[in-house]
Amino acid sequence: MNRLAVAALLAATTLASSANAADKPLEARGTWSVTTRGSAPLPPMGWNSWNAFGTDIDEEKVIASAQLIVDSGLAAKGYRYVNIDDGWWAKRRQADGRVLIRTDNFPSARTADGNTSFRPFTDRLHAMGLKAGIYSEIGRNSCGQIYGDPTGPGQPAGTMAEREIGLYGHIDQDIALYFGEWNFDYIKVDGCGIRALAADSPQVKSGRLRALDPLIDYDTIPRTNIPAVKGLFDQVGQALSRNKPGNDFVLSICLWGSADVRSWARTLGNLSRTSEDISPNWERMLHNLDSASRRELYAKPNSWNDPDMLFIGSGEFDDAHLTEARSHMSLWAMLNAPLIIGFDLRKASPAMMGVLGNAQVIALNQDAAAHQAVLAYDGDSVQIFTKTLADGTKAVALFNRTGSPIDVKLIASHLKYRADQPITLTDLWDGDTKSFTNEMPVHLERHQTLLFKASGTREHAQGLYLSEQPGNVNPAVDGIVHPMADPMVYRGLLPWRSTKADGEHPVYGGWGGARADATPFAQTPKIAGKTYHNAIGTLANSRLEVRNTGFSTFTTLAGIDDSVADPTARVRFSVHADGKLLKQTGWMKPGDAPAAIAVPVKGAKIVELVAEGNRPEMQNVAVDWAEAALDR
Ligand code: GLA
Repeated sequence: MNRLAVAALLAATTLASSANAADKPLEARGTWSVTTRGSAPLPPMGWNSWNAFGTDIDEEKVIASAQLIVDSGLAAKGYRYVNIDDGWWAKRRQADGRVLIRTDNFPSARTADGNTSFRPFTDRLHAMGLKAGIYSEIGRNSCGQIYGDPTGPGQPAGTMAEREIGLYGHIDQDIALYFGEWNFDYIKVDGCGIRALAADSPQVKSGRLRALDPLIDYDTIPRTNIPAVKGLFDQVGQALSRNKPGNDFVLSICLWGSADVRSWARTLGNLSRTSEDISPNWERMLHNLDSASRRELYAKPNSWNDPDMLFIGSGEFDDAHLTEARSHMSLWAMLNAPLIIGFDLRKASPAMMGVLGNAQVIALNQDAAAHQAVLAYDGDSVQIFTKTLADGTKAVALFNRTGSPIDVKLIASHLKYRADQPITLTDLWDGDTKSFTNEMPVHLERHQTLLFKASGTREHAQGLYLSEQPGNVNPAVDGIVHPMADPMVYRGLLPWRSTKADGEHPVYGGWGGARADATPFAQTPKIAGKTYHNAIGTLANSRLEVRNTGFSTFTTLAGIDDSVADPTARVRFSVHADGKLLKQTGWMKPGDAPAAIAVPVKGAKIVELVAEGNRPEMQNVAVDWAEAALDR
């Protein structure tokens, strides 16, 4: 079936129920549209075999790391998923389509009838108090089969059909096997098979793998069949729900930021990769960090941005690079990234175990308020991230991206604390405490992240700005009609390509997405000549869902951002509570003073903020919900 036929079929089935929603995307509906399938109320924590072993995996290696997770106390600190990645499969048996396990490597999977089963393996992990994760592929062939050495370890064997171990055409059967029969708790689903197997690809031309007309064009978003990709992942989610009616599962979407997954992952999956693979080097860590760091409004309880697994312990994050290892850990914690260890823990030094096991840093990642950190200062050299915590305090990370020491200043307004009152900081790596008023000089060594818990007197004492609670603000419709690649992601040398190309290009869809304390195009929000440091910036024709966690009033200054060049653009703003209209402005034009809105929202669960444009496509028209806050 070609990709358009697949899209038509999926559109007719899986997406039919959302037809009304698609017709009137700006209509307030009083619901929170983040998926309720699966269970990841906080970022998942655990271990995965890939960064440590590639496809060269076996039971001994996995169980050894699992045992160390328990014995070292990491499990008690929250690391509980033990996930096998690519390389576990022997083949797909043609008689009945059952996927068989490489029993030479996983001896406990041997069965008398030859069916093979991971049940003893998952039983063992469960008996250790852990959860078990498996890996599959949405196409017919895995990334390891496509990009790896065909003669290397972990490659499925047999005929071309036997080597088609991916979910494509077998979603229900495979998910029933992995979850119903084998009792896994977590699945990472990769997508190389729907990306790389065009008829003219080397893998197909050599006769090694079967062609599958690519649904994803990795480099060219408009040539990707986004509804078809989404439809396939939706089918996986439905199968998971059928096989795990208790909803205790995790679906990890591994599309590396392609297929505009940023815009839809929250409706289908529990974590979603925002970039290509991490490598154990500094430049690559920056790239992966950037792919998630400006998507603070797109991470939510039950659906997290995934900048890929930790590489702590290896390469430029090993014992000789403690500063870098701590930075990697600090940043992933602040971003609410899944904390998935990618190291052979048998080789981990006490120092590395200390980095992975820093309880206070883990606590930031697992904080109950579940807000991804927001960039309070953004630049190519230094970034300052802040995060509002459930206990009312804040965390702040000052990050030196460069290879030289830098002196910077932390100012009270980075924390949205009052400049005339003392602010106390506790260093989460060395325990030091200090106080300052107004501003504090900070010296950062090369690649260093200073990570503090902070307490002070809030600027906005009567409530919380929306930009302080990104986990409660969901851009259900962000106004993007034609996804564009995000140019803000650091484009370091790709380790597996070096300079054998014309350069690294922006690739991940997301430019123009809604932002906290920035416009969708990374400027300071500004209306009628006045800048605002507290705002949600989004595009015209957007609808934001805001979870009201017990506040009584919503206030904002709404207007068209001064960056808008089109004098004919008109936008009207409305605020709704549980689907009911509370306030609508008139049509506003660029340069107009903002409309002051203050509405009661007591008892309402969902406040919706709609910015309706005068044309259906207004992708360059930025609007600001300035000073937007929920107050007591
Ligand atoms: C892709 C994924 C990696 C890993 C490999 C396995 O590259 O992005 O995380 O799962 O496939 O082949």
